[in-house]
Amino acid sequence: MNRNSNLAAFKELLLRTCGHSFEKDREQALSKSITKRMKVRGVDGHDAYISLLMCDSDELLRLTELLTVNETYFFREPDHLNMVIDTLLPEFMTIRSPKPVRIVSAGCSTGEEPYTIAIMLWERFGADCERLFDIVGVDIDSIVIASAKQGAYGKNSFRGMDPSLLERYFDPSCSGKYQVRDYIKKLVRFEVVNLLDSSYPVRMQQPDIILYRNVSIYFPGQVQREIFGKLAELLVDEGLLLVGVSETFHHDVGILSLIRQGPLFYYRKTPPIIFAERRSSKHISQPAVQWRGESVQAVPVSTIRSVIRQARLPEKQASDVSGLRQLSDVRERFDEAITLAHLNKYDKALDIIAAIIEQDNSFEKAYSLKGSLLMNASRFDEARSVCETILNRDLLCLEAYLMLGIIARQKGNNDEAIKRFREAIYLDASCWLAHFHTAEILFVQKDVKRSRNSFETTLKILESGSLKERGQAFFPLSYNAEQFIVICRHKLSLLDSSKG
Ligand SMILES: C[S@@+](CC[C@H](N)C(=O)[O-])C[C@H]1O[C@@H](n2cnc3c(N)ncnc32)[C@H](O)[C@@H]1O
Repeated sequence: MNRNSNLAAFKELLLRTCGHSFEKDREQALSKSITKRMKVRGVDGHDAYISLLMCDSDELLRLTELLTVNETYFFREPDHLNMVIDTLLPEFMTIRSPKPVRIVSAGCSTGEEPYTIAIMLWERFGADCERLFDIVGVDIDSIVIASAKQGAYGKNSFRGMDPSLLERYFDPSCSGKYQVRDYIKKLVRFEVVNLLDSSYPVRMQQPDIILYRNVSIYFPGQVQREIFGKLAELLVDEGLLLVGVSETFHHDVGILSLIRQGPLFYYRKTPPIIFAERRSSKHISQPAVQWRGESVQAVPVSTIRSVIRQARLPEKQASDVSGLRQLSDVRERFDEAITLAHLNKYDKALDIIAAIIEQDNSFEKAYSLKGSLLMNASRFDEARSVCETILNRDLLCLEAYLMLGIIARQKGNNDEAIKRFREAIYLDASCWLAHFHTAEILFVQKDVKRSRNSFETTLKILESGSLKERGQAFFPLSYNAEQFIVICRHKLSLLDSSKG
């Protein structure tokens, strides 16, 4: 048997067992690894070694471990992670509560990715993370999983991370490495799993969010499809799957919906009969609405109800029958836009809002929703121009000041943001979102006293109960009042500990 036909047998075996293909430049790596393992096992000749691999699954794993590409680091491709934490996660927290939101890092390598998620969550929720989240990292390679469990990292792993986080979440060790602190380590569990296996362990079942980033690049098309299908099946309804930036379009195979949020993409499991049976009894059922011939249920969270309640149409329109018809038509389409917003279908929602404004440009709430949608889609410049339009029409519109503050904060213009939040508070002293953002800015600026005051005010308003229902009228995809309460308490405890 010549050398290449020997390699062909190895390639075939590895494709079947771990899904990797070894063509062109990877062929040499395969050949070297085989030689290395043959030496270790004292095997003479490719034929004898392939026979050994066929009957010794441990040996097959050892060879696989030499061939996996384990490149990873903390805060890799952070835009995706920020999107998850800032805008996508809150929905799952609400649905799952009081159970933890389940996050799986599939192909986690040495653990930097799931630990990054744990650190980001700890930054927001502190010790409550233990009850709020369940994070699991899996990989085919037992060596990287052992290293992830240990949680000690060299400098290279921190090349994408803010150095202040290194101080907060790691301890230097005598080996020159940095050891992840126990309270972060405790949040993540690791397990050896081959994503090609016919079934996955219990820990991986029914995740809300799967990070499957920079793994599929090593798989040929048919393996990519197979694993993508398995992960999709694993997800809960409406669950999310994120792939690496360079992999996004490999996977649009009709199993999950590809969703765009600003410049970023992710996949969502949206079965055809959506929302008729939602997972949580916490959701109040809403009447079904029609969208392009499909019956979809309006997403029933209190924030939406408050938006709809606030949508007041001009009285004069209701003065005759056609006015009434127009009124109900506009209201129905406004509801549709909100439903679509909650499905993250911002472009479609914006189309409807544009049509509403064209039909009735006195419908003020349509402008506020438009600004909010543009903000959620990270189209900040357009959102700002909508806010300016709103203020030209109504100088007392609270939402416009709030949105301008949030946009300024996103752009890193903290002075402008604080000014806008102050204007919002001037209009309504109980506008907790303005107090909250002010507190966050002051926190980052290390203005301990003023930050504490603002967090305390936010907490007081939220805890007063009567205002909880208000949620965040025009920011339907962000955290709810209860979640903000946890964040405020955590920040106050950090401010307290910074005193001493
Ligand atoms: C490049 S790392 C990606 C790490 C991390 N997700 C990131 O984006 O930084 C790819 C990981 O996928 C793992 N992997 C490859 N094939 C796998 C399989 N069949 N099952 C599970 N993990 C696999 C490799 O062992 C490797 O650690």
